[in-house]
Amino acid sequence: MSGDTRRASAPKGTRDVLPAESRLRQRVIDVARDALERYAYQRIVTPTFEETEVFVRGVGTSTDVVRKEMYTFQDQGGRSLSLRPEGTAPVVRAFVQHGMHKLPLPVKLWYLAPMFRYEAPQAGRYREHWQFGAEAIGSSDPLLDAEVIALLDGVYRRLGLTGLELRLGSMGDPESRGPYRALLVEYLERHLSELDADAQERMRVNPLRLFDTKNPRVAAVMADAPKLLDHLSPAAQVHREQVLEALGRLGIAYVEDATLVRGFDYYTMTVFEFTSDALGAQSAVGGGGRYDGLVEGLGGPPTPGIGFGAGIERIVLALEAQGVDAAPEIDCYLAVLDDALRLPMLPVLERLRAAGLRCESDLRGRSLKTMMKHAATLGARYAVIVGDREYAAGVATVRDMEAHEQREIPLGDLVEELSR
Ligand code: HAM
Repeated sequence: MSGDTRRASAPKGTRDVLPAESRLRQRVIDVARDALERYAYQRIVTPTFEETEVFVRGVGTSTDVVRKEMYTFQDQGGRSLSLRPEGTAPVVRAFVQHGMHKLPLPVKLWYLAPMFRYEAPQAGRYREHWQFGAEAIGSSDPLLDAEVIALLDGVYRRLGLTGLELRLGSMGDPESRGPYRALLVEYLERHLSELDADAQERMRVNPLRLFDTKNPRVAAVMADAPKLLDHLSPAAQVHREQVLEALGRLGIAYVEDATLVRGFDYYTMTVFEFTSDALGAQSAVGGGGRYDGLVEGLGGPPTPGIGFGAGIERIVLALEAQGVDAAPEIDCYLAVLDDALRLPMLPVLERLRAAGLRCESDLRGRSLKTMMKHAATLGARYAVIVGDREYAAGVATVRDMEAHEQREIPLGDLVEELSR
């Protein structure tokens, strides 16, 4: 050790998840996983870092993520690698690499993983955040778009998130986007004097991204700019209408948003974002869209795809803001009143755990009163109390911690009784 005894702390923009938050977080993950499996998604795990090329080609060189936010480094062998800033490009890379286009399509994959972006940290925006996400690759059916949105909507509902808005846009197909882009640039050139230097640069790199501007003057220019939604090709228009109709059938409310721009170059056709009114500036709790050219862009055969990613920290923040909290909970707390009984009770405790019950026991030789406090802190449903008298009679006193009632149960019946 160096002898430096200053208090160490986590890097700027990263955070520790302590047990109190872990419970709510785990609920989010459990609910998400359950939904993903009900929609027949299978889990995929890709490496934490990829060859930088995967993101350059997949996410695109005009995006902030690739231009300024990646954690890129050279390994000892001189390769350029990047920590994963998002989950879609790696999943599609794996789809191509493993020839998954030969499987029955669409191939439905889900993931739970940390993402790394060098962004300015603020509430709800971190340099390492976690997402659960889904990618359905191999179908351009608009009903799949609606299904993907319904899945995510269902996760939020089941968690009890309220105050959400679903914004829907379209990036069109290449037939829509080429001519539209020319139209937009022509409009922007007429308003060049109202654009700041940053906006002028964006205009050259990716003019659509200007709809996302924070500068009020630029926003005023963009308010009157032609919108891609009004210039969709007939095919893109039909696709869009079918998605809207399916969402209507499913009773999922949405707001059409012609200015919704998402931060990646791979998007085509449907794009969407869920925002929460419980959060501040960083209000997006999940988003996604179609990427019908991405598989081909990463060297696979032309294959459409669609997916979403949802930020776990932001969902937890929104739930907390709503006062939802996941109280700690265990099934039973074993309180052994005589130190000499702790050893003979050990197999009983293990039997309860083996039967699937969440159990804790006093490991510090405390008084009954202190043990009951500990049991309450852990959210124990039952306290199982065993003293000399009980042990000699082969029973335990089982106290219902909520109802404040207690009765004696034979030790051999504990598993059955507590499992009820
Ligand atoms: P994204 O919108 O960049 O999309 O990220 C998805 C979600 O991750 C956001 O809606 C937000 O909840 C959360 N998130 C993003 N950045 C941060 C951050 N710095 N701190 C905390 N939370 C954050 C994607 O990443 C796409 N790959 C989604 C997708 C999948 N599109 C198609 N398939």
